[in-house]
Amino acid sequence: MDITEFDKVIDRTQMNSVKWNRYPSDVIPMWVADMDFDSPTCIKSAIQKRVEEGVLGYTKIPESLNKTIIQHCHNAYHWNVQANQLIHLPGLVCALHLAVRALTSQNDTVIVPGPVYYHLTKAPELADRNLESIPLIIENDRWVINEAKLEAACASKTAKMIMLCNPHNPGGTVYRKEELEKIHALAEKHNLIIVSDEIHCDLILDDQQHTPIASLNSDAAQRTITLMSPSKTYNVAGLGYAFAVIANDELRKQFNNARQCVIPEPNLLGLAAAEAAYKDGEEWRQRLIGYLRNNREIIKKSLLNSPLKMISSEATYLAWIDASELHLDDPYRFFLEAGVGISAGADFGNSQFIRLNFGCTKSTLEQAMMRISEAVSTLKR
Ligand SMILES: Cc1ncc(COP(=O)(O)O)c(C=O)c1O
Repeated sequence: MDITEFDKVIDRTQMNSVKWNRYPSDVIPMWVADMDFDSPTCIKSAIQKRVEEGVLGYTKIPESLNKTIIQHCHNAYHWNVQANQLIHLPGLVCALHLAVRALTSQNDTVIVPGPVYYHLTKAPELADRNLESIPLIIENDRWVINEAKLEAACASKTAKMIMLCNPHNPGGTVYRKEELEKIHALAEKHNLIIVSDEIHCDLILDDQQHTPIASLNSDAAQRTITLMSPSKTYNVAGLGYAFAVIANDELRKQFNNARQCVIPEPNLLGLAAAEAAYKDGEEWRQRLIGYLRNNREIIKKSLLNSPLKMISSEATYLAWIDASELHLDDPYRFFLEAGVGISAGADFGNSQFIRLNFGCTKSTLEQAMMRISEAVSTLKR
């Protein structure tokens, strides 16, 4: 498999890139979950074709997009989704916040395993709900949910919702079917709604299968809001598109009522990109996975004898690295001063960690890892 296309260095500094225009030009940006790769040809062609139609007015959701998503869910996750269960959205973050606001009330508790992508905790916080964070722990070299703590939290009288991130950002965990079954059993026992952010589900690097929690059984389907998007996998976050699958009529009605007139419809180029990605992007995705696996190896090798410790990400292009052995007040700032702009672990719930985005060219990654090693070697230990 030829994966050299991902070696191409693209200057993003002139593109108003959130990632590349945050820091001075001598800092290598390895933060926000956005890759430095060219978009797949199938997506660029689909967008160009749509633009050439000329008229860019209000647009209906194409029936062909529904069919494509249904087919994709069936082929990729053996999951049967119906067209009427789909809700198309201009992004995934708004859906996290909307789900909390529409489906829980003021004194309800939202349970969130973490450290986690910050909008899962921000959603209950901003909506003034009770937030119960459940710590992830390391077991057999994976970040997993502390089951006893989850069980206790679910048993609370005010518990109403569990928010999952699967695959997990930043820990990279691909939850196994049995793990999801345990989470679902607790949700069923205590009648909780599950919101499952599965935005990274097509970025599995290990030999694992993604299981949407909603696909476990009919009860799981009836209590889950599943959120997915091609944006991370196909690097089209700037096009603003995501979708929700809500099988339960009442939950879907409540979610839709809160959405209408507040959250706009997705834009037509996002729709075109999503359809092209799921229909024609599979070969590109396979090559991408090959490239990301190699990048993950580069990080592993570079950290082999380092005080920086990493659990290998099973999925995503994000490495969650423990910097606690460096005994620094602010590892994020330390590496920024060394010329690497990584994400601060504090943003996800642990300031002694850093999150490094390896969705970049091998040459950029090697340079960043060199700067990280050199910076670490200057510390007295
Ligand atoms: C877990 C997770 N959910 C949601 C998002 C963002 O979704 P969107 O850009 O569609 O709002 C990200 C982006 O990094 C993410 O990692």
